[in-house]
Amino acid sequence: MENETLNTICSRRSVRSFTGEAIPRETLMRILRAAMAAPSAVNMQPWTFVVVTNRETLDELCAKLPYAKMLDKAGAAIVVCGIPDKDEVFSKDYWVMDCSAASENILLACHALGLGAVWTAVYVDMERVADVRTILNVPGNIVPLNVIPIGVPKEKGKVLDKFNEGNIHWEQW
Ligand SMILES: Cc1cc2nc3c(=O)[nH]c(=O)nc-3n(C[C@H](O)[C@H](O)[C@H](O)COP(=O)(O)O)c2cc1C
Repeated sequence: MENETLNTICSRRSVRSFTGEAIPRETLMRILRAAMAAPSAVNMQPWTFVVVTNRETLDELCAKLPYAKMLDKAGAAIVVCGIPDKDEVFSKDYWVMDCSAASENILLACHALGLGAVWTAVYVDMERVADVRTILNVPGNIVPLNVIPIGVPKEKGKVLDKFNEGNIHWEQW
């Protein structure tokens, strides 16, 4: 593909195997800048991010989250959190979409920087939401949507073309 941005989007894969190397703070800031560039309903930006680099905290999250075991070798994790009560009209309905857009930007930014990342689910499992709140001291009105472990990839992921023409309806169903 001749366009760098489209190439980044189409070659992104979930990465679940990391070297264990730390991720510099400046790199995490670049990724967070990309996260906050995401669109959101009425530009409400009902998101907040918990950045975890401490090994013990990463291990605590790893112990509690059944599908996030790759945290054991991640250099960092970003926990994308929603603020459903940021306003009285939009955020309660739109925070999941808004935070999902920010999450995809994080995954793409990691890939663009040569790092690996994967979305691991927290919300809608309220037990996981409670566990993440407890471990990270997140207030009760803030909802952790996911945990995104980030690391230096251990091996190069296989690019998979997921394009499916059958998903497209031109003009009408
Ligand atoms: C809402 C959501 C929840 C996910 N939860 C997990 C998870 O808990 N653990 C995991 O390893 N991957 C998780 N994934 C990653 C998907 O398994 C992955 O995106 C999918 O298999 C497609 O692979 P790709 O990302 O390499 O294209 C999740 C992805 C999304 C969007």
